[in-house]
Amino acid sequence: MATPFTPLTNTKHGEKYRPIKVSDIVGNEDAGYRLQVIARDRNMPNLILSGPSGTGKTTSILALAHELLGANYREAVLELNASDDRGIDVVRNKIKMFAQKKVTLPPGRHKVIILDEADRCTVSIETDDGNLLKFHTLSDHEILGRLMVVVEAEKVPYVPEGLEAIIFTADGDMRQALNNLQAIYSGFRFVNQENVFKVCNQPHPLHVKNMVKHVLEGKFDDACSGLKQLYDLGYSPTDIITTLF
Ligand SMILES: Nc1ncnc2c1ncn2[C@@H]1O[C@H](COP(=O)(O)OP(=O)(O)OP(=O)(O)O)[C@@H](O)[C@H]1O
Ligand SMILES: [Mg+2]
Repeated sequence: MATPFTPLTNTKHGEKYRPIKVSDIVGNEDAGYRLQVIARDRNMPNLILSGPSGTGKTTSILALAHELLGANYREAVLELNASDDRGIDVVRNKIKMFAQKKVTLPPGRHKVIILDEADRCTVSIETDDGNLLKFHTLSDHEILGRLMVVVEAEKVPYVPEGLEAIIFTADGDMRQALNNLQAIYSGFRFVNQENVFKVCNQPHPLHVKNMVKHVLEGKFDDACSGLKQLYDLGYSPTDIITTLF
């Protein structure tokens, strides 16, 4: 039997399938292109990356910093994330000390400070639109491509409908898709629709689809009893409405 693969995405570092090169990050071509130009020209501006969860913001910036600084990464990159306190004292101390630290870098390279999850910073950050890279949720096709890489590398048994169900529940969030894949594999060793909806614990889309069908056919009592069944199973109204949507 195959051994379960190590956690994919629930730790900040050491995520097995986090792309290492900017060019391996799928989707968001505009942002990706700008990052590749920065990597190529070695001309790092102040940048803000914004967008929904699990779409590659942290991944992109770590990859870019590695491409720019290579072997100097450890001494030339300061990473501050949500687990660090980032009040004004941190800005005064940690960042200032890092900025003053002497690091010998190849010509044209600069030290990089990464303020991950900066929306939780208590210090205001200024930018203009030119420095803002917007990320968007990933398409089904983009998520499928990446899931296939993992499924093949880890020899995870699956049927296509199982992967489709993972993509459905992930809703454009690659981290969610990979976490779900892992949870299903750990729990059942087989990715099919049934197992996905057991693990992801969303109302089964076929059930919800039937409710919509009943409504379209004017069978409102049937639709309502479908709704009540889900509610009695313990799904919250939000879960039901989200799946309906
Ligand atoms: N565009 C992508 N291409 C390939 N893998 C991705 C992509 N986006 C996310 N992933 C995978 O999902 C994981 C989480 O991505 P990442 O940490 O970059 O998300 P994020 O955009 O920073 O989300 P958050 O807003 O929650 O911080 C990564 O480890 C990587 O495996
Ligand atoms: Mg992030």
